[in-house]
Amino acid sequence: MSIYIKTPEEIARMRVAGRLAAEVLNMIAPHIRAGITTGELDRICHNYITDVQQAIPAPLNYHGFPKSICTSVNHVVCHGIPGDKVLKNGDIINVDITVIKDGYHGDTSKMFFVGEPSVLARRVTQVSHECLRRAIAIVKPGTRLGDIGHVIQQHAEANGCSVVREYCGHGIGRQFHEEPQVLHYGRPGTGLALEAGMTFPIEPMINAGRAEVKLMPDKWTVITKDRSLSAQWEHTLLVTDTGHEVLTRLPGDDL
Ligand code: MF3
Ligand code: CO
Ligand code: CO
Repeated sequence: MSIYIKTPEEIARMRVAGRLAAEVLNMIAPHIRAGITTGELDRICHNYITDVQQAIPAPLNYHGFPKSICTSVNHVVCHGIPGDKVLKNGDIINVDITVIKDGYHGDTSKMFFVGEPSVLARRVTQVSHECLRRAIAIVKPGTRLGDIGHVIQQHAEANGCSVVREYCGHGIGRQFHEEPQVLHYGRPGTGLALEAGMTFPIEPMINAGRAEVKLMPDKWTVITKDRSLSAQWEHTLLVTDTGHEVLTRLPGDDL
């Protein structure tokens, strides 16, 4: 068990990887419209990452994952496999991008609306975004992992939503998923205390209905058991001496 504290040289590389991952999300945004397939989104991102960024799409072949990005639509919680699915008006989709540049990973995801989403779809999307923002706001040396989980759980449940338990944030660096696990639920004042030099994404998966999830027969796609809508946002963070830096936030972009 070891949590890597990144050196200044590693942090410089993590900044680059984080920026590249964020740039992929900005690049793909105008393509996310009714009529496009998730497979086409994957192909566009794959080509951009490999050809333009000269980087590696981390999901491809990761424990056998068959594509370069994850696309999770409506009641899909996470790890949706891009394919023939055609986006239609009213869908909500999470696009999750992880790139490897110079040996280091940057991991970020966000929600997109296809046309006009329902009131409920907007709501779960907004609540999950607020959960991430509230969690980011308290990241600094001395904050405990349980504090992070608590603010997310508290905000989700106060708004009638639920927190997925089976998947979590994670240390990140040379490896896609390092220690520690960053749970999106918990009790204040418990768990590991953050230290400057740690890097990890926070990536709450918030359901409009019940928290339980189900794994599909493809062994990747995770859906809500009750088929309720699910939304997720993710940023990779660096703990600094005075607080944090959001490595996957581009200058001028919202959190
Ligand atoms: N990007 C996801 C995360 O945030 C992990 C995807 S693993 C994959 O941790 F194999 F499905 F790509
Ligand atoms: Co991710
Ligand atoms: Co992640």
